[in-house]
Amino acid sequence: MTELNLILLGPPGAGKGTQGERLTASEPLEYIVTGEILRAAVREASELGLQAKGYMDEGQLVPDELVIGLILERVRAEQATDGFLLDGFPRNIAQGEALDGALSQLGRDLNGVLLIEVPDEEIVRRLSGRRVSSSGRIYHVEFDPPKVAGKDDVDGTDLIQRDDDKPDTIRKRLAVYHEQTAPLIGYYEERGLLHRFDGTAPADEVEAHVRKTISTLRLEDAV
Ligand code: AP5
Repeated sequence: MTELNLILLGPPGAGKGTQGERLTASEPLEYIVTGEILRAAVREASELGLQAKGYMDEGQLVPDELVIGLILERVRAEQATDGFLLDGFPRNIAQGEALDGALSQLGRDLNGVLLIEVPDEEIVRRLSGRRVSSSGRIYHVEFDPPKVAGKDDVDGTDLIQRDDDKPDTIRKRLAVYHEQTAPLIGYYEERGLLHRFDGTAPADEVEAHVRKTISTLRLEDAV
C-alpha cells in the first residue's frame, strides 16, 4: 500500500478527534494528536508540560518553539509506516511551513488536508457538553453519551471535562482559531490539497464522507 499523509483541520470542537479515532481504528495511519501529546506532558508534569499548561488553560497556542520540534520528531520517526494523520498540527502558517520543510527533507508528500467546518455557535454547545476519558475517548452528554453516565464505555473510568472546555476559554480558543489557524485554509487550498466536510452532520455521516475522500486519495496516489 502506498503512503498517505493527511492533516485534520478545523475549529476546536469540530469533531477532529472523533473522526480521527474512528478513521484510525481501521486505516493504517499513524495518528499523531498534538493536543493529546501536550495533555500527557501536563499530566506527567514534564518540563514541556509545565511550560505548556498555562497557554492551554488560557486557550492560547503553545509557543512554536515548544511544539514544532516535538511534533516533527514524531513525523520523522514514522518513516516506515503507511502514512500519518496529523490532528492539531499545523496550527499556524509557521507550523505549516515547518512541516513542509521536514516532509521535503524526508522526500515525503502531503496528500490531503481534511477540513471539518462547524459554525462558532455550535462549537460552544459541543465543547461545553464534551466529556473525555483518561485514554482520550470522546463523548458528548447529549450527542454521544456513554452507556453509563460519567463512565468510559471501555474501561469504566470516570469521564472528566477538559479544563479548556469552560465557556470563556472556548471563546478564546475560537478567536485564536480564526486569527491564527484559519489562514492555513487558503495556504492548502491554493495547492489543491483541501477537502471540505460539513461537520454539522451526524458523526456517522461525516465519517462516511471523509472515508470516501481517503479512498479517492489512495486511488489517485496509486496511479
Ligand atoms: P486540541 O486538543 O488540539 O484542541 P482543539 O483543536 O481545540 O480541538 P478539540 O480537541 O477541542 O476538538 P475536536 O475537533 O477534536 O472535537 P471532538 O472530536 O472532541 O488542543 C488543545 C490545546 O493544546 C490548544 O488550545 C493549544 O493550547 C494546544 N495546542 C494543540 N496543538 C497545538 C499546536 N500545534 N500549536 C500550539 N498549541 C497547540 O468533538 C467535540 C465534541 O463534539 C465531543 O463531545 C463530540 O462527542 C461532539 N461531536 C463530534 N462530532 C460531532 C457531530 N458530528 N455531531 C455532534 N456532536 C459531535
